[in-house]
Amino acid sequence: MSLIWDKGGSSVDARVQAFCAAEDAILDRQLLPHDILASRAHVHGLGRIGVLDAAEVEALVVELDRLSEAFESGAFLLDERFEDGHSAIEAWLTERLGDVGKKVHTGRSRNDQVQVALRLYMRAACAEMAVLTEASAAALLERAQRDADTPMPGYTHLQRAMPSSIGHWLGGHAEAFLDDRDLARLTAQWIDSCPLGSAAGYGVNLPLDRDGVADELGFSRVQLNPQAVQNSRGKYELQVLMALSQALLDVRRLAWDLSLYTTAEFGFVSLPARYTTGSSIMPNKRNPDVVELLRAAYAVVQGATSELQATLGLPSAYHRDLQNTKPPLLRALGHGLSALALIPDLTMSLEFNRAAMRAAISPDMFATDRAVELTAAGMPFRDAYVQVAAELGTLGDRTAEASNAARVSLGAPGNLALERLRERLDG
Ligand code: ARG
Repeated sequence: MSLIWDKGGSSVDARVQAFCAAEDAILDRQLLPHDILASRAHVHGLGRIGVLDAAEVEALVVELDRLSEAFESGAFLLDERFEDGHSAIEAWLTERLGDVGKKVHTGRSRNDQVQVALRLYMRAACAEMAVLTEASAAALLERAQRDADTPMPGYTHLQRAMPSSIGHWLGGHAEAFLDDRDLARLTAQWIDSCPLGSAAGYGVNLPLDRDGVADELGFSRVQLNPQAVQNSRGKYELQVLMALSQALLDVRRLAWDLSLYTTAEFGFVSLPARYTTGSSIMPNKRNPDVVELLRAAYAVVQGATSELQATLGLPSAYHRDLQNTKPPLLRALGHGLSALALIPDLTMSLEFNRAAMRAAISPDMFATDRAVELTAAGMPFRDAYVQVAAELGTLGDRTAEASNAARVSLGAPGNLALERLRERLDG
């Protein structure tokens, strides 16, 4: 392993180094494109304050671009030969440019370098989270609108409660994913500040063009105080995982519904073959494994969140402990976003058994409608409740359609106002 900080002469214990670097270089494969982008902006910034001359800037930028291409094509492999991605960039530049390459680290520390790479990575992840939750909401809303008035039973406590509709069920999930989209966007704004130029956590005796670097990287502001930068490591990650958790909570709810509704006992929904798997022993089985693993994705993020929280019990400034915020962040985002990515197509391919849904609506489920009707004629609700409870057998000539249509309180099956969700989706 090549170590950028090795001054020579010191003894470097291989086992100690392997322990400290752990899987850092491998994880940095996900950060390297961002690190290269930020390095380019840093070089430009050094050029603007005259620390690098135009030819040096040009040479460094060309080699950073070459590294980017070599990494994309697979010609350059980021592996355990390097302590991390940051060292790999410097090694590449120094190997090709000699002394000019060594100048890239002027005025920066790996402490702000890793932060800017992570910030760019998290910004992209939040953008993807917003796109995927919006696509999920769009698919759910589309299915809700297509079958808006198709009756199905509504449950509380998993006991039959009142008639509902596919529009109500899936529209409810759509609205939840819109909340998640908005949170992903808000989170992207919340973390939209540039840490680069804060160096090890105490600034540097150069008039770094921090505003210009932040602009070039598309940040809306500079994260000012170098201590604030260091203390935000892990804290921002936590917020990104919180946003992801909210989305996966909704994935879990939807997956739970599907897991119930695809059982023979309910039989409301069937999944296309590509969303099921066979059993290795029971020839009769098709199992909804995908839905179950979607349900389980929240647990992965929850575990990563705990790991992150436990790591953050630190005093101010940089500590190597902070490196351990990286694995849970990358693991949770990798897994969570891949779960979210399945929701739109899964939603569009659900098949509904309308007859089974209707058959599960029993006459007693009209009781609440009846009690509320009696209040319209002036009867106090509690008296109506008692009267209807005594005559539950008399509700057999009612239909789910009429019940739903009459439930006109805003948002209810008779007044879903799905167009409002459509507006919010497109807004
Ligand atoms: N891999 C390190 C991390 O993620 C990079 C920063 C190293 N800084 C240091 N002072 N050793 O935190």
